[in-house]
Amino acid sequence: MDSNGDGIGDLPGVISKLDYLSDLGITAIWFSPIFKSPNDDMGYDISDYRDIMDEFGTLDDFKALLKEADRRGIKILLDLVANHTSDEHEWFQKSIRKEDPYTDYYIWRDPKPDGSEPNNWMSHFCPSAWTWNEKREQYYLHLFSKKQPDLNWENPLVREEIYEIAKYWLDMGVSGFRLDTSTMYSKEPGLPDMPGEGYQWAGKFFMNGPRIHEFIKEMNSRVFSKYDCMTVGEASGIGPEESLEYIASSRNEYNMVIQFEPFDTDKDSSSEPWEKREFNPVEFRDIFIHWQEVLADDGWNCLCLSNHDQPRQAGRFAKSEAGAKMLALMLHCQKGTPFVYQGEELGMTNAVFDSAEEYNDIQTKNALRMHEEAGKSFEEVKDLLNYFSRDNARTPMQWTAGEKAGFTSGSPWLKINNNKDKINAASQMVDSDSVWSFYQRLIKIRKESDTLKYGCFINLETAKVPILCFKRAYGNDCYYVLINLSGEPQEYTPPEDYDCDAALVLSNISEVRISSSFVLPPWYAELRKSHN
Ligand code: GLC
Ligand code: CA
Repeated sequence: MDSNGDGIGDLPGVISKLDYLSDLGITAIWFSPIFKSPNDDMGYDISDYRDIMDEFGTLDDFKALLKEADRRGIKILLDLVANHTSDEHEWFQKSIRKEDPYTDYYIWRDPKPDGSEPNNWMSHFCPSAWTWNEKREQYYLHLFSKKQPDLNWENPLVREEIYEIAKYWLDMGVSGFRLDTSTMYSKEPGLPDMPGEGYQWAGKFFMNGPRIHEFIKEMNSRVFSKYDCMTVGEASGIGPEESLEYIASSRNEYNMVIQFEPFDTDKDSSSEPWEKREFNPVEFRDIFIHWQEVLADDGWNCLCLSNHDQPRQAGRFAKSEAGAKMLALMLHCQKGTPFVYQGEELGMTNAVFDSAEEYNDIQTKNALRMHEEAGKSFEEVKDLLNYFSRDNARTPMQWTAGEKAGFTSGSPWLKINNNKDKINAASQMVDSDSVWSFYQRLIKIRKESDTLKYGCFINLETAKVPILCFKRAYGNDCYYVLINLSGEPQEYTPPEDYDCDAALVLSNISEVRISSSFVLPPWYAELRKSHN
């Protein structure tokens, strides 16, 4: 929400919407980075970790936000971007000049004898993960854009700096962090080449590296363990078994990790840039079941289907309003902490970008560049870009059907989705049948139920059908969830353990009669409850 008409959402704008969030029922806000940044990668390139980005407001605004949120029982979580800084950060500027003690704050290397990059690693947002610095006459490593140099976590002084930053915000009153790219701090010693010609994706040399757990444990013992706070690490490239190395209680590392597996069910990310593949609802279902089962007794699931890096979930994993509600029910009824991404509670969908100029996201621009280099035109890859672009999740929140969707009085920094007339908060909040009202009810039900919070997860359907059927049990209560993950009606006989007679608590499509065998409408979802 933009408070001053410059077209950019800001902290006073958020304060003005805290009542909205409180109405919805949420209890914490995770902010993507709000620190000073030249915005090469939407604030994930930080030039001052202790101050607020000018566009977003001031430290006083942030303190006011903490106070106002606290009055409503809402906690604030910040995004700790500790793998890299902006190249405009003073540490990097001093590192270029080899000023003590900053000389080894980043990962600098000499060229290979032929003058080429120190290795053949590819970066996320440009061809090579290395950029030559004229002044220092060395290459520096950047796993993301060249304006995001990687910090050298091998240097204890660097780690100390990060801990001090975390403490600074915790002391101010924040309640924890989402830790950006938090499996990438430790790189394989010697930074070896990947096999193959040209620049290569080298994840195995920087994801879950040799010292990663030592580093996170240190951060936990020095910082997190000293505060009443929560942590959720962004963890690409790991499955549930490996996740336990980060979140099992005995590990003393993070509380939760954001997993990526569901996001690969319609995407082939083995190639750069991503390619689309057909969404497989059974695979999608089994990923969640697998995480629930592996984390049954230890660890805790972070439940999310969207964030600022992903296309909108409504329209991606399920279509229609019923589909948006189904995804919500599926997520909120599992064991773990549900994360709702702004606008998800309205069923916001991808936007349509008609020209390359309409994109803002560095990843999308890079994907377009790679396609163009391979001889393709914008028109040829437009559908693919429109499908996956991170800008889809970043278009302004649709508050009203009014001009600029009620987001700003000026001109919005990114285009507003054309469907604001149909999908907006104002109309949904007064409609008891809307996606928003469904989220509000679900959040309330979950908050009031120890069974939905702590109950064990028992999977009831293993056949290769696009149906998710499970039970949650705790004390004397049981909840039952039955979901059709496909856009086709499914003839279905629920397993014996599914209590069709249990009281219906919530469903997204009314008038469905359950009997021993019946037809589940497309995207059908229901929640039932029994008491022993
Ligand atoms: C994380 C962020 C993403 C960012 C990247 C580099 O994946 O979620 O938005 O581009 O890290 O910081
Ligand atoms: Ca503004």
